[in-house]
Amino acid sequence: MLWKDKKVLVGVTGSIASYKACELIRHFQKKGAEVRVTATPSALEFVGKLTFKALTGEEVLSDWRDGKTGLEHIFWARWPDVFVIAPASANTIAKLRIGLTDNFLTSLALAYEKPIVIAPAMNTKMYKNPATKENISVLKERGHLFVEPAEGELACGEEGEGKLANIEDIETVALYTVLPKPLKGKKVLVTAGGTREHFDPIRYISNASSGQMGYALAKMAYALGGDVILISAPTCLKTPYGVKRIDVVSAIDMYEAVLKYLPEVDVIIMNAAVADFRPKTFSKEKLKKAKESPVVELETNPDILKTIGEKKREDQILIGFAAESSNLIENAKDKLKRKKLDVIVGNLLDVFSKETHKGIILFKDGKMVEIPPMDKESSALFILESIFL
Ligand SMILES: Cc1cc2nc3c(=O)[nH]c(=O)nc-3n(C[C@H](O)[C@H](O)[C@H](O)COP(=O)(O)O)c2cc1C
Repeated sequence: MLWKDKKVLVGVTGSIASYKACELIRHFQKKGAEVRVTATPSALEFVGKLTFKALTGEEVLSDWRDGKTGLEHIFWARWPDVFVIAPASANTIAKLRIGLTDNFLTSLALAYEKPIVIAPAMNTKMYKNPATKENISVLKERGHLFVEPAEGELACGEEGEGKLANIEDIETVALYTVLPKPLKGKKVLVTAGGTREHFDPIRYISNASSGQMGYALAKMAYALGGDVILISAPTCLKTPYGVKRIDVVSAIDMYEAVLKYLPEVDVIIMNAAVADFRPKTFSKEKLKKAKESPVVELETNPDILKTIGEKKREDQILIGFAAESSNLIENAKDKLKRKKLDVIVGNLLDVFSKETHKGIILFKDGKMVEIPPMDKESSALFILESIFL
């Protein structure tokens, strides 16, 4: 699991969004993290101590005097791999800026030596107030990381910026703080999803790719420091935090988008399941039912991976994927050579649209690494760390 053996300290403050901290705690736990909570006395007006205690199985410290020895704010500051304050109130953000220590959370924050992940949640006017803006900008200059609030309808009935960021986005920024940065300064292009080859406006030929692996690779490339562009065929997935997404539909669209971005990127990760064939004709009108069974004639799509292998510069790293029904190693080796790849990740077809992934990584110098069975996010991280660390 992605957060296995990692310790996450969640700081909760007095916001109407405090209840979402429970979801955040569960999210980290489901991904394997050990979680503790410190909640301000105001936060406990919104969500009871017992809820956090039951979720984490740990004492929840709140007052500056809390803890067995009175020194827990110092001990707890040494404990986590990452300290995430979510939701962060305007009041706590102001206190962090000036270094006030009037409760357990703020005392701990002052003794905490690493960057804090701060996810503000408040009324739009409070968020846009120059005082809050200035406090945030000073904290950013000190190296703390903010997960910008989302826009939408707020509890006060107003519309605007101030909603607590998505839980997954908060987790991604937390991940960014705990991982090494081998992709810092590198532009990374990732392709994902299964292309759709339409033969009328609503009907198409496609494949079973869910896009999960490509999106996980984009998320991990960001968390490892990369500047990521994700070229995505249609999926139901949310764009990973910090990633620029370009939507395409067909193999030809993907071909054009990849060629457009090719000159400016350092790493190309071609994970999309691109259709080899497309219908020869396209009807602008929806095809009507007919007595005769319709015949869809196919023609071959351009081979994007092969084209990139031929066009790429020496200093660009090209990573391809091979999904094979059998003879995984031989077929992957052959594809690596034929398409002039630097690395190929091979897996059998049974990982399509599944939660878990396993396979092999083959390098052009002959090195081979086995990917043990694990969830797709952990596998994406394993693959990128095996290549870039
Ligand atoms: C119903 C209610 C909802 C509130 N929601 C927020 C909020 O979303 N964000 C915020 O910054 N303050 C909010 N406040 C104000 C804070 O709770 C208040 O500033 C408090 O002092 C924060 O304390 P803390 O930062 O120590 O947790 C709310 C207050 C009330 C009564």
